[in-house]
Amino acid sequence: MPKGYFGPFGGRYVPELLIPPLEELDDACAAILPSPAFQQELDLLLRTYAGRETPLTLCPTLSRRLGFQLWLKREDLLHTGAHKINNTLGQALLARRMGKTALVAETGAGQHGVATAAAAARLGLSCTVFMGEEDVRRQAPNVARMRLLGAEVRPVAAGTKTLKDAINEALRFWIARQRTTHYCFGTAAGPHPFPTLVRDLQSVIGRETMAQCRNAFGALPDVVVACVGGGSNAIGMFFPFTRNPEAASVRLVGIEAGGSGEPGCHTSAPLNLGSPGVLHGQHSMLLQDRDGQILPSHSVSAGLDYPGVGPEHAHFQAAGLAEYHIVVDRSALAAFAALCRSEGILPALESSHALAWVLDNADALPEGGQVVVNLSGRGDKDMDIIREHLPSLGL
Ligand SMILES: Cc1ncc(COP(=O)(O)O)c(C=O)c1O
Repeated sequence: MPKGYFGPFGGRYVPELLIPPLEELDDACAAILPSPAFQQELDLLLRTYAGRETPLTLCPTLSRRLGFQLWLKREDLLHTGAHKINNTLGQALLARRMGKTALVAETGAGQHGVATAAAAARLGLSCTVFMGEEDVRRQAPNVARMRLLGAEVRPVAAGTKTLKDAINEALRFWIARQRTTHYCFGTAAGPHPFPTLVRDLQSVIGRETMAQCRNAFGALPDVVVACVGGGSNAIGMFFPFTRNPEAASVRLVGIEAGGSGEPGCHTSAPLNLGSPGVLHGQHSMLLQDRDGQILPSHSVSAGLDYPGVGPEHAHFQAAGLAEYHIVVDRSALAAFAALCRSEGILPALESSHALAWVLDNADALPEGGQVVVNLSGRGDKDMDIIREHLPSLGL
């Protein structure tokens, strides 16, 4: 397979001016990432700063109700509240070893922006975060957190004023400052080498999960479920399973956001409802019209609100290595409420999509089996949205 491709997906479809920094990054990934010194420094940061390893938590109440053991991989317990910090610490460390002094990032929900700002502050790098004006409005607490952590937040007024526009601006900013600046991309998508780099940094999730399952119940799980926005928490969970021959029978299930579920509504489900095309430097599945214009996406969870998806998921789907389904807003909100009341955990709305699929499909899951949901983040950031929906949640 040519470098940077996953089957027919992936690649590097970028303007000429972006080739040199992408080449420089690719070389740095090959030279620096595997070195024991880098791995030791990253491991120390992940353990003593971010809070790894994260627990695998059994949900006793829901398990009794469902007829199988439901486990949560608790990425919500990490510093800054989500799996994003696994990636930003790795990229910030890499940037510093490359001699860069600054990070630029895009953010939608603000989780990746906060995680980048924290990593930059910790490692002495300056930080600029691009965020669509609409997201700045929807996610005001995260904007304040980024600024407190020393980042400059630049609102983006172009296009739909959301994540896809923020990525465009961040790429432009990087072109002009590539000598001093590393683009800390937030998900396993974009031009090569980002899908591979982010996947490798997030694979700690799947590696830990496999070891913890063996410890907890002496085997690998029957089913593993994760939500899919750009795809980083899901690929971090799935990838180590796909590399282990003993895991061949483990069902890997990715969940896309279906929006309101009304006929003709906007969704964030390119794997289920999209077609192949090019966006943000990668060939992957996209929500687009017949002329190749990107369609607006929508989800109650800002972190899933993206019209594209990482190319390795498109490959996993085409090759039958993982399956991908849709969950709509109201199911995710119901799952959010169920986890709060049954287990005392407030999940992120993104992660609630993965949980919702399990709750809605319990009858089809193996009785007495073991099911793991990747709880990618905590729900504190979603409180304003949750408050709007409290009446419909019966809370
Ligand atoms: C908690 C949480 N989960 C999931 C996602 C989706 O991103 P990805 O698909 O890259 O994991 C986000 C994005 O902001 C997030 O904040």
